[in-house]
Amino acid sequence: MSQQSRNPHPKSPDKAAFEQLLTDLHAERPQHLEDLMQWLRIPSVSSDSRRKDDVQQACQWIATKLGSAGLKVDVMPTEGHPLVIAETPPVDGGPVVLVYGHYDVQPAEPLDHWISGPFDPTVRDGDLFARGATDDKGQVLTHVQSVCQWMSAGNPLPLQIKFLIEGEEEVGSANLERLLPELSDRLACDCVVISDSSQYGDGQPAITYGLRGIATYELTVSGPSQDLHSGSFGGAVMNPAIALCHLLSSMVDSDGVIQLPGFYDDVEDLPEDQRDQWRQLPQSDEAFAKSVGVEQLFGETGYTTDERRWARPTFDINGLTSGHQGEGVKTIIPALASAKFSFRLVPHQDPERLTNQLREHLAAHVPVGVAWDLKVDHGAPGMLARIDTPFARAAEAAIEQAFGTRPVFIREGGSIPIVTRFQEVLGCDCLLLGWGLSDDNAHSPNEKFRVQDYYRGIEASARLWNEIANPPE
Ligand code: BES
Ligand code: MN
Ligand code: MN
Repeated sequence: MSQQSRNPHPKSPDKAAFEQLLTDLHAERPQHLEDLMQWLRIPSVSSDSRRKDDVQQACQWIATKLGSAGLKVDVMPTEGHPLVIAETPPVDGGPVVLVYGHYDVQPAEPLDHWISGPFDPTVRDGDLFARGATDDKGQVLTHVQSVCQWMSAGNPLPLQIKFLIEGEEEVGSANLERLLPELSDRLACDCVVISDSSQYGDGQPAITYGLRGIATYELTVSGPSQDLHSGSFGGAVMNPAIALCHLLSSMVDSDGVIQLPGFYDDVEDLPEDQRDQWRQLPQSDEAFAKSVGVEQLFGETGYTTDERRWARPTFDINGLTSGHQGEGVKTIIPALASAKFSFRLVPHQDPERLTNQLREHLAAHVPVGVAWDLKVDHGAPGMLARIDTPFARAAEAAIEQAFGTRPVFIREGGSIPIVTRFQEVLGCDCLLLGWGLSDDNAHSPNEKFRVQDYYRGIEASARLWNEIANPPE
């Protein structure tokens, strides 16, 4: 652990020293890749209680990496998985940036769909395959590598960088959310930088200024006290699986419009100038459909694919379970049926208000002869970030230099639950710099991260610190 000393010269290294840093980063590429592969071998699945030790080990791995480069590091326990908080020395009068990311990953199942093992990182054709490669170990590690290199070169950083790397993003960040107010001094910053999203497309990097929110639920419908013979009882007893299907289909029409009363009350129309700007992006519905293996896309009438993905709320069933799943036929009326489902929300929609609307809707639509129970998971609102900031200007320049293409400004449809809390509690700006690609298979078998994008991400990160500290006149 390093001594925290005040750096009296909040200036960037001179040009030659910065060029040397870039050269060193290039020379370190094999080691950077080796580091990421080591981290990816630790199966830190936060939702799986049997993986608790692995999650802890992944936490230790990144804490050790930061500590050995000379950052001041703390591993902070929570009621769930621990937080890693680290910082470089403060710089008098200089800006403070907080890098946020997560070391937890999604479950790897279904395992037999993976070409190489999810926790056996393997490079094929320039892509590194492993669970967590793009979401988020590979992406957050770009910033860790750039800062570690800067520290080990002995050049004082021209700004202070703090890290907050958590182990519960994939399960909603509830513990971090609870602790954030008491950590607000420790995490105080001018801007939070998050690399946990994607470029717009291959060869087109992006800065993301909006994310959708999320609300997730599990609904269980129960009928008879045990499974019944469907010949002896069918027609005389409500089938819970059919009741569940009725309830689920009552939530959304065939166009994808959500049917809960009041659901769209807080959904704002998209400004026309924003729609115009998105229509200029290089997009192809045909290529998009092909990339996910469907004949045709689907969505609300009157909206483009990007509008549907980024700025319209949605309803999705994430998992559906009832009755006989084994081999052959078993003619039963199952006693239980359950579904996990989620809504994506746009800014101004409130997950708690949605839960009330949902309960009312279920009560009004439940068929006779069954009971229902709703388990409410953690929700998070959608976010919008300002793009007229010096941080966004710095990111544009850094990305253009590292990727060779000027980034476009986009929104995305995924959710990072804690991000609006940073804006509210820390009062900081927010920069979402995704190095991934939308075909990286996040949350899916054969998750990957392009090795080249990992290296470019590290370079863009190093350049970002330089640009933030030395804005153009
Ligand atoms: N990195 C994603 C968020 C993301 C996905 C941002 C795609 C931009 C584009 C994050 O790890 C994630 O998966 N979040 C979950 C949150 C949920 C589990 C509470 C999500 O969006 O489903
Ligand atoms: Mn993520
Ligand atoms: Mn994720």
